[in-house]
Amino acid sequence: MYWYVMGKYTARLKMHIKQHVLLYVTSALALLCIGIVGMYFFFSSQRVSLPPPPPDAPYRQANLPDEERIEDLLSRMTLEEKVGQMALVEKNSILTQDDIARYGIGALLSGGGAKPPRNTPEGWYEMVVGFIGASRQSRLGIPLLYGVDAIHGHSNLPGATVFPHLIGLGATGDALLVEEVARATAREVAATGVNWSYSPTLDLPRDIRWGRVYEAFSDDPKLVAQLGSAYVRGTQHASRFATETPLFVLSTPKHYIGVGGMAWGSSSNKNFHIDQGMTPPDERMLRDVYLPPFAEVVRAGAGSIMVGLNSWGDTKLSAEKYLVTDVLKGELGFTGFTVSDWYGVYEIPGGDYHAGVIAINAGIDMVMLPFDYKVFIKNITRAVRKGEISEARIDEAVRRILRAKFALGLFDSGTEPLQAGLIGSGAHRALAREAVAASLVLLKNENRTLPLSLQDTHIRIAGSAADNVGRQSGAWTVEWQGIEGNTLPGGTSILEGIRERAPSATRVEYAADGIFSSPESADIGIAIVGERPYAEGWGDTEELTLSTEDREVIARLKEVSDTVVVIIISGRPLIITDDISSWDAVVAAWLPGSEGAGVADVLFGDKEFRGKLPLPWPARIEQLPIATDGTTQDGTVPLFPRYFGL
Ligand code: BGC
Ligand code: BGC
Repeated sequence: MYWYVMGKYTARLKMHIKQHVLLYVTSALALLCIGIVGMYFFFSSQRVSLPPPPPDAPYRQANLPDEERIEDLLSRMTLEEKVGQMALVEKNSILTQDDIARYGIGALLSGGGAKPPRNTPEGWYEMVVGFIGASRQSRLGIPLLYGVDAIHGHSNLPGATVFPHLIGLGATGDALLVEEVARATAREVAATGVNWSYSPTLDLPRDIRWGRVYEAFSDDPKLVAQLGSAYVRGTQHASRFATETPLFVLSTPKHYIGVGGMAWGSSSNKNFHIDQGMTPPDERMLRDVYLPPFAEVVRAGAGSIMVGLNSWGDTKLSAEKYLVTDVLKGELGFTGFTVSDWYGVYEIPGGDYHAGVIAINAGIDMVMLPFDYKVFIKNITRAVRKGEISEARIDEAVRRILRAKFALGLFDSGTEPLQAGLIGSGAHRALAREAVAASLVLLKNENRTLPLSLQDTHIRIAGSAADNVGRQSGAWTVEWQGIEGNTLPGGTSILEGIRERAPSATRVEYAADGIFSSPESADIGIAIVGERPYAEGWGDTEELTLSTEDREVIARLKEVSDTVVVIIISGRPLIITDDISSWDAVVAAWLPGSEGAGVADVLFGDKEFRGKLPLPWPARIEQLPIATDGTTQDGTVPLFPRYFGL
């Protein structure tokens, strides 16, 4: 009995103890959890709720010198806030608009073809002003930069003036004209709230097989230096006479350095041949050919410079400390900020963390992030905490970025109103038309076929590029890879320009395919043919002759016309050696953009042919690459030398 009672008692006691222990353990666990969560909120709220600086903090005072304001602001920034400024995020990758203030993002961009939901001036303005407003919600209220590739006008936006691509401007050789074109472009960009443009291109193409030849002015360093610095002045200064701050639109000469000198077959991208390839590590050539244009834009006050996707020998440019830090910032005395190109930083081998560390230590101040920004910010802050990047280096980068923001007056200005009237304005289109006329290069003119005369009363026009504003504009127009057809509001095709200008007594007939109903011979046939739009490595090719269709059209036109003029629409010289003898006149018209009427102005003799080839016109592929002094690879002479033009 005793044992029975005792046994029951012990069992109860045991259960009792068990229950208590369970209770204690669960309560302790719960308390621990509450503690952890509390601590998390405490510390994270500590981070976000660092007090905002007082309204009269020196950096907020417009009357103080920029350098003083920069140092004041820098001294108030946390490491995270500094690293946030170094991030340039593709706008389509922003997960929520709140992230802009939360991470203190320094800049956003629209890549080629990246448009607002409504691709109108209003749509652009609302989008950009919305993003800038979001950036001002951060603790320090640092406004963001918003960048676009306005490389031939504000050309992601339909209805904006599309100027000739730079190769055409190179053919004009006219620095004042180029400066005005850059200024008009900047006006249209700024009209929609955008404050940054990734232009001009200072690349020097030596091989026309490359898909970015048309983005460059020339292969002559002197001409590129002269036109490139004019372009920077036009972009950054609203008026030719007011070179004072604030800057107008921030300019970004690109791509530093050696771009255009990459070898065929050296691309790091398996889809490409030259683009993103390897520039031979020949320092003499780099200094003689590729550096002078950059030295000149630094003198002209370029606020930022984009570092290329190429490599110098085995090293990707974003990892090239010697070239980026020692040469550009040291020797050339560049005080603006460097920005990496697209996914360039992550092409440095070794994984994302390592690539970021190498690039920042090499001297990249702002990193273009097409996809992810959170990992970038986490990686770079971690690297600073681990001592793999010094805080002094971060400060240097942020100082340079803030310098541009202060120079632009971003901290002091309110929101400027939308100026939709500037987009594709009459004055800008007239300027573009003038630039088109000045860019045409007359390569051949038998029996003074051109200009057209009053005797030419029957003109036949043919060819796939004759009535095609998309094609004559080339890539980086509304879409990254360009568009076809006549959908650009306000644009004029070359055919329309000729129709408008032709004397009323002149009969102008058009058939894209060169098949006309009547067999009688016209006085003159004008074939307008050439390349379809392409961008970047997608335009790398060895097929540089006219297409079979184009040749057939020209042949058909020749049968029904007494003389034949061929107008070539292309981003580069094409190989026409076997065809040219059967044509009476040939015009290189490059990629003229939205104002096709500029071609008619010269065809009808209202303006003279003024353009000169901005680079040699090769006779055959074996001549490539062509050195700066004009020496071809196989030692034979090009079809036309650089600066040729009748
Ligand atoms: C191009 C740059 C351009 C950037 C942003 C890159 O792929 O190389 O020229 O500025 O994209 O669109
Ligand atoms: C973007 C371009 C960029 C390219 C780089 C495209 O998706 O729109 O801006 O230059 O990618 O490969």
